[in-house]
Amino acid sequence: MISSWAVMDSYSEATRYRVPVPDHVQADAIIELDYHTFGGDLDPEFAGDHQIAWKALQDDGGPDLRWTPLNGGHWIAMRAPLIGEVLDQPELFSSRILALPKEVGAMYRFIPLSLDPPEHGLFRALLVPLLSAKVVHDKEEHIKALANALIDGVIEQGHCDYVAEFANILPISIFHQLVDFPAEERERLRKMAYVANAASAGSVAAMLKSIGDFVAPLIVERRQHPGEDLISALLKGEPGGRPITDEEALHICQQLFIGGFHTTAGSLGLITLHLAKNPDLQRELRSRPDRIKSRVNELMRRFSLVGIPRTAIRACTLAGQEIREGDAVYLPLVLFNFDEQLYPSPLDVNFERRSVPHVSFGRGIHKCPGQALGMTEIALALEAWLARIPEFRLDDAARIRIKGGSVGGVENLQLRWD
Ligand code: HEM
Repeated sequence: MISSWAVMDSYSEATRYRVPVPDHVQADAIIELDYHTFGGDLDPEFAGDHQIAWKALQDDGGPDLRWTPLNGGHWIAMRAPLIGEVLDQPELFSSRILALPKEVGAMYRFIPLSLDPPEHGLFRALLVPLLSAKVVHDKEEHIKALANALIDGVIEQGHCDYVAEFANILPISIFHQLVDFPAEERERLRKMAYVANAASAGSVAAMLKSIGDFVAPLIVERRQHPGEDLISALLKGEPGGRPITDEEALHICQQLFIGGFHTTAGSLGLITLHLAKNPDLQRELRSRPDRIKSRVNELMRRFSLVGIPRTAIRACTLAGQEIREGDAVYLPLVLFNFDEQLYPSPLDVNFERRSVPHVSFGRGIHKCPGQALGMTEIALALEAWLARIPEFRLDDAARIRIKGGSVGGVENLQLRWD
């Protein structure tokens, strides 16, 4: 997954990719929407709530499929059935382009996400066992220890920037442990996270290069001296019966780092922001720590933060609308989870809700293989935080910065407790 703020960061950049309206787009479908900024800090109307911004659009009475002339021109699917229809047809809707405009999206070669069948399956099969429930279970004590060490660093001061001092560090440290990166390089890894958070189109190349510079030497070293880590295991892989190349292993690691970092950090930020505004919910979670793990699923539904593009491999029809070969369809996954037909009162966090599978981790062949790891990180982080930090509140609401885009999240989250 590509974090949008790493792709571009302003209306003007998206506007540079404005295209004329093609003749197959109906007039009532047209909206001006730059998904990189929509609902984020730069959005003058909805700054401060990415999810609410999408919900308002879903409820505005417009058609189920919209079209925007920004970011090279693309469709946007607004409801659960349509989002599901696209996700369920990888043979018709390619995931080769992972960001829009296509010129930028084509720069990425993440394995397995930017591959289509049948190639996709060869690489996914290598990855799934490396992130299995058993692997994650074995990491639980380590994750708890990391979360508690971060809490040790802030608890006495009575306040912190939750994002910089906790949410951004935890998933990176876990990746660090997965690939068994030398401890003395930890600081470099931390800095890299901030590069990965960079906010201009030019920083995309820098971001991929910084991750490449970090991982490529490890690949060479682990080929010579295999260990028990994820990279060593990957290098034993044989997609299609031949040895995996260093380049393929690098593209997998880049995907794992970016796919596992921004999503987990962003989810932690959005959930904790909501908790800071809702002390009753904090109390409810604190009262039953044994239930936090199972309750994370509803929190993930409500605070879904990923949006993904797909590209039509051939002409077809979607929601009665002609779609041409090469047309891009953007899927804000949160709008699946906010569809009243599936989830009554969808904005409410309701732990008693009838369990209907949500799509915060995707659906179909690309469904997130890191789901168990991501959910476990979030559950254990919440457990540790709520067990040790007393009731917390927003410290400086004015400094909170919400990001929209293909991976939404929170940039600053100042919390205070007594
Ligand atoms: C809260 C945390 C996470 C969220 C919300 C999330 C979300 C997603 C989503 C929505 C997809 C599907 C994208 C698509 O269909 O285009 C996906 C795919 C993927 N995710 Fe995650 N993810 C999370 C954590 C992780 C972690 C921790 C890892 C691994 C370290 C990971 C690795 C991947 C990979 C490799 C894919 C591509 C799978 C494929 O193409 O078959 N994710 N994720």
